[in-house]
Amino acid sequence: MSGLDHIPNGVRGAHPVPATTASDSAGQAAAAAVEQPVLANPQRMPSIYLGHGAPPLLEDPLWMGELGGWAASMPRPSQILIVSAHWQTAPMALSATRPVPLVYDFYGFPQHYYEMTYDAPGAPDLAASIKGLMPATEPVMEREPRGLDHGAWVPLKAMYPDADIPVLQMSMPDLDPEHLFEVGRRLAPLRDEGVLIVGSGFMTHGLPYVHEYMMGRPGAPQWSRDFDAWVTEALNRGDLDSLFAFREKAPGMPYAHPTVEHFAPLFVTLGAAAKADERPDYAIEGFFYGLSKRSFQAH
Ligand SMILES: [Fe+2]
Repeated sequence: MSGLDHIPNGVRGAHPVPATTASDSAGQAAAAAVEQPVLANPQRMPSIYLGHGAPPLLEDPLWMGELGGWAASMPRPSQILIVSAHWQTAPMALSATRPVPLVYDFYGFPQHYYEMTYDAPGAPDLAASIKGLMPATEPVMEREPRGLDHGAWVPLKAMYPDADIPVLQMSMPDLDPEHLFEVGRRLAPLRDEGVLIVGSGFMTHGLPYVHEYMMGRPGAPQWSRDFDAWVTEALNRGDLDSLFAFREKAPGMPYAHPTVEHFAPLFVTLGAAAKADERPDYAIEGFFYGLSKRSFQAH
């Protein structure tokens, strides 16, 4: 079994949660209006996009060093808001704000990965802030039973192993680049309150097409290199319109993303940037089983 996450899209809904009613939503909005966040660190944070991998990432010294070094290079966040490829539900939803078990949404791995924990504090104040930042047309639901999925807790365990920073996960309401950019734009003020906004996916994620690389072939397939290079160039020149149209414009499609949920969190990251059209800083580059793990922080 490879170290990559290989979660079929069909299992995304394998962790059912109760529906939230419209009256719940109204109550949440009222609560959001009166609650004020208590923030320990007002230092401005970047917004970041990262490749998250599966739990074996935690035994990959190179990747661990890259993620840990990146975290150490940034100011310490007051709280963390993470949008993972592995949670798409509409309306937009927020994960538990109280301790609940992690979501072990990966299959066929050794047992010890299913016993890992990441007991970060909940972030009820951050949840209230997010509800206050969204317009009436963007309802935000609470999913209190929903823990962090592996797209959230695996990279955070690498970056902030002490699990002492409050974490909240937010779902993607859809996979529309421009909508997700707008969601990110709404979230941007949180950065000034010390919140680290994380889009968690994978720069190329053509899992059906990297079997040889999982079996040990070095390097990366051309479609993975082409897509990675194209996105990098588009990011460097601030070409948001091309990025929004990546399905049609990017070389390497559809092989790089036969489904696009691992690329989509990038648009939340860019939306949350103060200067989305400014060249980002690339914290991690290179390929893992033929897939680009390029990760960056936006300004
Ligand atoms: Fe994933």
